[in-house]
Amino acid sequence: MHSFDDGGALRLVDLPDPVPGPGQTLIEVEAAGVGHVDVMSRRGQDPGFPVPGFVPGLEVAGVAEATGERVYAMLGGGGYAEWAVADEVVALPPELSPAQAVALGVNALTAWLLLERAGVTAGESVLVRGASGGVGLMAAQMAAHLGAEVTAATRSAAHAGRLGGLGLSTRDGEDAAYDVVVDPVAGADLGRHLGRLRPGGRYVVCGAAGGFPAPDFAAGLLGRFQHSPSLLMFSLSSVGAERRRSGLKTVFDLAARGALRGVTDEVLPLAQASLAHERLESGAAFGKVVLRP
Ligand SMILES: NC(=O)c1ccc[n+]([C@@H]2O[C@H](COP(=O)([O-])OP(=O)(O)OC[C@H]3O[C@@H](n4cnc5c(N)ncnc54)[C@H](OP(=O)(O)O)[C@@H]3O)[C@@H](O)[C@H]2O)c1
Repeated sequence: MHSFDDGGALRLVDLPDPVPGPGQTLIEVEAAGVGHVDVMSRRGQDPGFPVPGFVPGLEVAGVAEATGERVYAMLGGGGYAEWAVADEVVALPPELSPAQAVALGVNALTAWLLLERAGVTAGESVLVRGASGGVGLMAAQMAAHLGAEVTAATRSAAHAGRLGGLGLSTRDGEDAAYDVVVDPVAGADLGRHLGRLRPGGRYVVCGAAGGFPAPDFAAGLLGRFQHSPSLLMFSLSSVGAERRRSGLKTVFDLAARGALRGVTDEVLPLAQASLAHERLESGAAFGKVVLRP
């Protein structure tokens, strides 16, 4: 990644292999996950990555060089590469391929923990915005697994068909109201969706794939004070290492038992990382775009 001037061009370059420090694991990367947050960093919109010239990629699956074990790891960067170094790794169940592991990974963990934060229980109605995206697809499947009545909202008619194929309803009436709204999209529509909570409802903002809302987006909530609505935020950055590790084990276990599906949109070679970003930016992707070194 060299310059933000041109919207952040991605370039394939040769760099020295990373060297693991004490306690770190060197991983031969078999699959690197591509997420919307990578797109934001590439554009220079993520304060965590202010300097052009970094190697993107926040999650990988592959083989731990020292043990030969297949592992998954969340990273601070450097995942779009043949080799990566991780502080923590989680062993992959044999049922999961590296591509499935990164299709689950960050997204499934985020979905699992945010549903826990929202206190979703069986029988509640849950609206998931951006349901064909990485986080949305996981949240919709997991809320269904918890016994909620899920509505998976998408902008795309073609993606609605595919969500239906996964057993998810996409029927979202104008006047429908929900116990919980899961929102990785935010954007100009956030305020309107806040008005769709049932009494006692919880709204969880977990991303901004559609951009940031107007500063007064929550103004309408005060007028509905008597319904006790909750506006929650969830970020993985606030989660400690032990909770991340046990959450990852839980979601990998659910997937290994067939209760959750890691959906890969496309598996592309590293050299096509720009195309991978384009699939996310254009809204063409359904599920997780994966890079293969
Ligand atoms: N809270 C956390 O810890 C955490 C963890 C991971 C990611 N995130 C954040 O969650 C958000 C989604 O990440 P992701 O990797 O799931 O992204 P993604 O795969 O690109 O999915 C985003 C989805 O949002 C929908 N969308 C609606 N309006 C959009 C617009 N104007 N532009 C782009 N997408 C729009 C699309 O779904 P439809 O086509 O179905 O409408 C799209 O598939 C990002 O902001 C990311 O930074 C947060």
